[in-house]
Amino acid sequence: MIKEALTIEIENVKEFIDEKTFDTIKPEVFSAFEMLHKKSGPGNEYLGWLDLPFNIPESEIQAIEKLAVEIRQHADVFVNIGIGGSYLGARAVIDALSHHFSGQLDFKPKIYFAGQNISSDYLYDLIEMIRNKNVCLSVVSKSGTTTEPAIAFRILKGVLEKEIGSERARHRIIATTDREKGALRRLAEIEGYRTLTIPGDIGGRFSVLTPVGLLPIAVSGIDIREILKGARHMAELSQANDPLGNPCMVYASIRNLLYRQGKSIEVLASFEPALHFIGEWWKQLFGESEGKNGKGIFPASADFSTDLHSMGQLIQDGARNIFETFLIVEKAKRTISIQSESDDFDGLNFLGGKTLEFINMKAYEGTALAHRTGAVPNLTIRLPALTPYWMGQLLYFFEISAALSGYILGVNPFDQPGVEMYKRNMFRLLGKPGF
Ligand code: PA5
Repeated sequence: MIKEALTIEIENVKEFIDEKTFDTIKPEVFSAFEMLHKKSGPGNEYLGWLDLPFNIPESEIQAIEKLAVEIRQHADVFVNIGIGGSYLGARAVIDALSHHFSGQLDFKPKIYFAGQNISSDYLYDLIEMIRNKNVCLSVVSKSGTTTEPAIAFRILKGVLEKEIGSERARHRIIATTDREKGALRRLAEIEGYRTLTIPGDIGGRFSVLTPVGLLPIAVSGIDIREILKGARHMAELSQANDPLGNPCMVYASIRNLLYRQGKSIEVLASFEPALHFIGEWWKQLFGESEGKNGKGIFPASADFSTDLHSMGQLIQDGARNIFETFLIVEKAKRTISIQSESDDFDGLNFLGGKTLEFINMKAYEGTALAHRTGAVPNLTIRLPALTPYWMGQLLYFFEISAALSGYILGVNPFDQPGVEMYKRNMFRLLGKPGF
């Protein structure tokens, strides 16, 4: 049984959505729930992620853990090469659960990311960082044909081969890709790279609990079993067909009701900088799942209180087309208190003895109230702490919510036809054969 679950609070939307309004969406929420769990809705060929917390094979978890231990023992540097769903989940979890300055600290392996852009300056600087180090390259691409990671991989592989020779280099390369299809699978077979598999029925943005996310997360030293346990508990909870008791149904309903009132932008705001990349991952999950057929809530993210000093004015007082979802962590890992001073020249003695955690919480409460007063309805998702277990709950909570919300909106949440357009233009401009 689930002991505890993340909570969702809707007090600050009640002025905008009363009980009667909430009731109007219930039939659509029930229908979305049924389509998802009976696997009868559009895109149902991409629902492999749904049962993943229950049925990821033990042998796969062990293989990932074993590989991660080996990499942690031998590598100075681990470079994860991928973009979109083959990048953001791993980055989000590692950033959320690691030391804020882990890049500057003296432990290994250092984890770097590549292939998420085509910037020569970025890649040049990365190459400088990895020269003459024991490097492990992990290239991740479900299709095996995505241009950005393919370019980065070709260049980084070249650097590695030049340094240590192609025979040794191939033992430092891991490819995570489709079981059969794609250029990366072919290359891995020809070169004899070690491989991990992305299941064919799981799309990129839903792949964080596959080897795509689990390998880099395990390499960073985070306990992937705890993440899976959290996801499993949220999966159990999300099976309740109860629009008020199932947090995923609550979230999906509220955001759709607000959208219908003209609130077409959702800001995911956190007061913990470690959650910055959770915002980036969330933007892909909801943006790609919902933004189609002329519909979709624009997902934006903000790091408070930092962004209250840049975006705060617009949110408080600009066009009233925004609603907010706060992501709140209740317990900080460390405590720092403000000391009282006898002279009080800076006038801060009223905070003497208070912890930063307490003050940060008051900043959140003050913001939520101010924004509600300014006609920005807001919800709050509360995580008791930043641990692998709660991360697992959160990731799976958002995945189910995105699927339900997409079905309520009337779109296929599991395709992304619009992503192809820029690629076709780019290939034509670059003279790729066939374009
Ligand atoms: O969600 C998606 O499908 C995309 O964002 C992909 O993850 C992204 O384009 C990378 O694709 P691939 O893993 O095939 O290289």
